[in-house]
Amino acid sequence: MTSVKVIGVGMGEPDHLSARAVAALNSVDVFFVLDKGSPADELAAVRHDLCRRVITSHPYRFVQVRDPRRDRGADDYVQAVVDWTAARAGALGEALRTELGHDDCAGLLVWGDPAFYDGTLRVLDALREPVDVEVIPGLSSIQMLAAAHRISLTRVGQPLAVTTGRRLAASGFPPGCDDVVVMLDKDCAFRHVDPAGVTIYWGAHLGTSHQVLIAGELAAVAEQIVTVRSAARARRGWVMDTYLLRRGR
Ligand SMILES: C[S@@+](CC[C@H](N)C(=O)[O-])C[C@H]1O[C@@H](n2cnc3c(N)ncnc32)[C@H](O)[C@@H]1O
Repeated sequence: MTSVKVIGVGMGEPDHLSARAVAALNSVDVFFVLDKGSPADELAAVRHDLCRRVITSHPYRFVQVRDPRRDRGADDYVQAVVDWTAARAGALGEALRTELGHDDCAGLLVWGDPAFYDGTLRVLDALREPVDVEVIPGLSSIQMLAAAHRISLTRVGQPLAVTTGRRLAASGFPPGCDDVVVMLDKDCAFRHVDPAGVTIYWGAHLGTSHQVLIAGELAAVAEQIVTVRSAARARRGWVMDTYLLRRGR
């Protein structure tokens, strides 16, 4: 059975990799990249650079796989992602069949950790022919956020929710939860939350030389974050940010 290593690469710096990830990188023959085009181009370049820097003992090559477009205008977001996953599985399955030699090991590099808002494992599950998957965890942007602000994400005996900007804007804090990590937020959804008693710990381009951090009472720093985020985006052409909202003490 084809062997596929799904390797979490943190924010793309060699020192974000575990020893296990370095060993896995040094065992892959062909890395498959589902290419989204810009701004993901820069992230693809980061992955190539990472491999150049840490792979010392094994020949390897990269194969670009055309990433099918997701229907971003669809009314049913979940169905649109299901359809997209199936299309991606078709494209990746074809590439695995045609590009891998006998006994070759395939690798997929995942930004951060595959456990958080990443479709790679779902795509592999949807392949027509089953593959033998090994997951090597990576440092997630969530962990980078906590470390950069020197905080724990969880409070004693309390739950932590991880959600998207879209969900936060639609429904606010999840029921029964006063600590929420927000990812995939294009629109600064924290502006739609009642700021009374809420602290925000925000970070963009975490773990990179472009990292920016802001923390404080939401009411006091929300507009500052909007401005700093927009400047960070202007500098690089894109921005990725994550934040923790904490209600009460
Ligand atoms: C498709 S998800 C992938 C998450 C990734 N698997 C992880 O473990 O961090 C992309 C989201 O992750 C967050 N993210 C990824 N890299 C980031 C970074 N360097 N700084 C801040 N947030 C980041 C942002 O919320 C972004 O919208």
